[in-house]
Amino acid sequence: MVVINKTAAVAATTALLSASSVFASTPAAEDLRLQVTAEGNINYFLRDETTAAQVLFTDTKNATSGGIRRFLTAFPAGNSGQVTYFHPLNATSDVFTVSLVNGTLQSVTGDHEKVGVKGSMEFSKDSKMGVTVMGGTRAVRDYVEGRGVMHEIFNYTLSPVFNESYFQLNRKWINSSKTMDLTFHAGDNLRFAVTPSSNGYTPPTIEFLRKGSGPGYANWSVLLNETSLTGLPTPGLFLAENATSAYTVKGSGSDPKALANALRGLNNGTNPIAKQISFLTYADKFTAGGFRFLTYFGRDTLFSLRLLMPLLQTEAIESALGSVIARTNPIDGGLCHEETIGDYASFVNINNKEAYKGDEANFDYKMVDTDMLLLPVLSHYFLELPQGKNRAAVLLNKTSEFANGTTYAKLLDHNIQRVFNLTAAFAKNPVAGNLIAFKEGIPVGNWRDSNAGNGWGAIAFDNNVAYAPACLRAIQALSEAGIIDRSLATKASTYASVWESKAEAFFKMIVDSKTSQQRLNNFVKAANLTEGLLYGEGSLNSTSTTTRKYPATPKKQKSDTTFYSISRNSHSQIPVLNSDLGFALLLRTQISPDLLRGVVTALQPYPRGLLTNIGMLIANPAYSSNTSHISEFSPAAYHGTVVWSFQQAIMAAGIQRQLNFCGGSVASPQVDFNKSPSKPPVWCKDKQLVADLKDGQMRLWKAIKGVGEETLFSELWSYTYDQIKQRFGVIGLGALAPEGTEADAIQLWSFTFLALADPTGDAATVRV
Ligand SMILES: *[C@@H]1O[C@H](CO)[C@@H](O)[C@H](O)[C@H]1NC(C)=O
Ligand SMILES: *[C@@H]1O[C@H](CO)[C@@H](O)[C@H](O)[C@H]1NC(C)=O
Ligand SMILES: *[C@@H]1O[C@H](CO)[C@@H](O)[C@H](O)[C@H]1NC(C)=O
Ligand SMILES: *[C@@H]1O[C@H](CO)[C@@H](O)[C@H](O)[C@H]1NC(C)=O
Ligand SMILES: *[C@@H]1O[C@H](CO)[C@@H](O)[C@H](O)[C@H]1NC(C)=O
Ligand SMILES: *[C@@H]1O[C@H](CO)[C@@H](O)[C@H](O)[C@H]1NC(C)=O
Ligand SMILES: *[C@@H]1O[C@H](CO)[C@@H](O)[C@H](O)[C@H]1NC(C)=O
Ligand SMILES: *[C@@H]1O[C@H](CO)[C@@H](O)[C@H](O)[C@H]1NC(C)=O
Ligand SMILES: *[C@@H]1O[C@H](CO)[C@@H](O)[C@H](O)[C@H]1NC(C)=O
Ligand SMILES: *[C@@H]1O[C@H](CO)[C@@H](O)[C@H](O)[C@H]1NC(C)=O
Ligand SMILES: *[C@@H]1O[C@H](CO)[C@@H](O)[C@H](O)[C@H]1NC(C)=O
Ligand SMILES: *[C@@H]1O[C@H](CO)[C@@H](O)[C@H](O)[C@H]1NC(C)=O
Repeated sequence: MVVINKTAAVAATTALLSASSVFASTPAAEDLRLQVTAEGNINYFLRDETTAAQVLFTDTKNATSGGIRRFLTAFPAGNSGQVTYFHPLNATSDVFTVSLVNGTLQSVTGDHEKVGVKGSMEFSKDSKMGVTVMGGTRAVRDYVEGRGVMHEIFNYTLSPVFNESYFQLNRKWINSSKTMDLTFHAGDNLRFAVTPSSNGYTPPTIEFLRKGSGPGYANWSVLLNETSLTGLPTPGLFLAENATSAYTVKGSGSDPKALANALRGLNNGTNPIAKQISFLTYADKFTAGGFRFLTYFGRDTLFSLRLLMPLLQTEAIESALGSVIARTNPIDGGLCHEETIGDYASFVNINNKEAYKGDEANFDYKMVDTDMLLLPVLSHYFLELPQGKNRAAVLLNKTSEFANGTTYAKLLDHNIQRVFNLTAAFAKNPVAGNLIAFKEGIPVGNWRDSNAGNGWGAIAFDNNVAYAPACLRAIQALSEAGIIDRSLATKASTYASVWESKAEAFFKMIVDSKTSQQRLNNFVKAANLTEGLLYGEGSLNSTSTTTRKYPATPKKQKSDTTFYSISRNSHSQIPVLNSDLGFALLLRTQISPDLLRGVVTALQPYPRGLLTNIGMLIANPAYSSNTSHISEFSPAAYHGTVVWSFQQAIMAAGIQRQLNFCGGSVASPQVDFNKSPSKPPVWCKDKQLVADLKDGQMRLWKAIKGVGEETLFSELWSYTYDQIKQRFGVIGLGALAPEGTEADAIQLWSFTFLALADPTGDAATVRV
């Protein structure tokens, strides 16, 4: 494990643009050069006509002594990457630093059509090269996140020619001639001492020795002959700022001022965030995040699109939608969760006893949620967005290179049949046993990605209460619009009604007031929190009591608590309060008053609900009768009591969409195009419920705005708790627990805040 300074938390992000003086040479206009400091790493992003790469060095700003430093590169091309650890050669009480020399990062080309990046690095002390992993970023992640897991098949070799001023490490891909070279040339005040392996089993010993006092320098390059992907520059990705004039359609739900405000600086790239998104987007797919996920992920693509779509150009939206449709499983209509490409694909194929496939891409279809996510997004695009108007015939006529040229229309039809297959049993007989479980023999099947993340339940709330009904309604709408077979509408509508009315009861929990109060008191002790969190607005209390806008929650629990379980098994629920209600608010139109009462509970201050002064937690085991959930959903767990940025965006977009369906004083200007139902939903008549939801929305935004942009746009973060001040502080997950998974510095779906207007702002069009 790389040692991350515990105080490192999530550091200030500086997204430095090409226009600034960071990089010596003046890059071409379309070049992307960014720097983001987060989670104890300094990340450099470079994309030009030659390559796209992320380069990471350990941030040593707050380091106290010694230390192991990390140098990592990641390329979307083949999802390739490399990591090298550097140790100080001698024990030292000084801080050991290995850093990129400012302004030296450049793209580079080599023989055999190799492309990559080069730069110069500075060593503050003599150093010894530690573990090096070269090849797929997945192999790098296996080592970094898998407590040092390495596979012999990925061993690099030392190039036979080396001396005091030069050496090279090579890695030939398992099933292909493609190769990665990591090359070092000694620069000022440095020499190498290279000792090849004496037994062919242990790696070579390589020391970086300074010739005199002061720092030493080495020039490095990472080159590989994977084909680079074509990036989407900001003008090809985002709508022009004046585009809104063409889009001002009454009843579309979108507020022209909010949309114009959201678009400011995106198309011309003056907003640095626009460039970070651009780095993650390519002509044939969007990537999920860097460095860990610089490749295709279905769920990330679809949720990012669902929220960012109103800001994007037709072509960009369709390249992302196309990436999902093209990867549809031609056998059962399932959708691809993750692709494995490049060197690691060979490894997966070998492990699957399909070595004959060589490095052919491997598409993973294990996630059942993903099967139901395309249709709601597609129907939003074709039927609600100006960009998608009259685009169905063209998009669905495209063909998939992965499915022998099958048309998208045919693949979509497969997916529709898959959805009917998943939803038929419950629609005909709505009993627990007919709910949608994770796929047979697979422990995961939604974004909570693990047994523990779902509390070991295999029948998840989101799949059953949010996606299944939303997906059926999307089929109905697309069918009624004549985009897909018109005969499907009736069946889809019949199925949807059953799912909408019957599924949520299997997840509903009511804990009486006395028991709620007992469990909350116990939880506060067990989770090392303080009782003050149970009074007033808890950690959201205003510093100035006179400006407090939101009603205080009662001192003692007066009423029963209604909430919805995270998941269930055939016989029992996993009673963990969670954020997945947001998916239903965003994707469904007919929501029951009960489900909305669950939303009101979720949008209470933690631990009554999910809201803290540093954001909305994704899970809260406080009401669970099973106290082992407290450690299982701890602040050190990837899907525990932690904040995921995209979950906040989904909840914020969802609650705004629903309140806007009611209209009147609870509505607020929204960026997205969400057509209201012909009649306002029935619950809009319940004044108390509507007021409670509005309070929840205001509180949610207070929580969201409790962190700065650098944190908000990262993948996730956890908390530290100050018992005296009774406030939460931000800490990176990688820093909190030795086994904690580090978060990506930039994450596509965390950028979805760009498409949300803050309803608490004065002009109500303020962007975060
Ligand atoms: C370093 O410490 C300062 C002061 O404690 C803090 O503000 C900053 O966020 C820290 N930076 C990093 C990278 O941890
Ligand atoms: C690189 O140089 C620029 C301008 O001199 C400076 O603003 C920036 O902070 C430097 N970056 C690092 C990592 O030192
Ligand atoms: C550093 O360690 C190396 C080998 O471990 C040793 O030969 C050398 O003398 C040490 N240098 C110093 C300055 O202690
Ligand atoms: C090859 O990989 C294995 C497993 O990671 C490791 O134990 C061994 O030292 C490596 N050999 C070389 C020469 O790098
Ligand atoms: C990649 O480079 C290696 C040399 O390092 C060469 O042998 C191989 O043919 C090249 N492969 C491709 C696909 O260009
Ligand atoms: C937006 O501006 C561009 C260039 O200034 C112009 O070509 C385009 O027609 C304008 N679009 C709208 C919708 O006004
Ligand atoms: C880009 O757009 C922003 C926001 O409208 C504007 O302030 C800026 O001047 C524009 N920059 C260029 C180079 O066009
Ligand atoms: C669909 O594609 C085929 C073959 O590329 C073409 O002949 C046909 O005109 C296209 N249809 C539509 C509606 O675009
Ligand atoms: C694709 O088409 C080729 C030639 O018609 C056929 O051999 C192959 O089995 C097909 N593959 C799939 C996945 O349909
Ligand atoms: C769904 O598909 C599976 C496998 O193709 C099949 O065995 C099952 O009967 C289908 N279920 C329904 C309800 O259509
Ligand atoms: C509370 O603190 C104790 C003692 O430091 C620790 O063992 C326990 O894991 C903490 N509980 C949680 C939920 O963080
Ligand atoms: C919040 O304010 C209430 C009074 O309104 C107080 O009782 C409670 O202790 C405060 N809680 C925190 C965590 O600041």
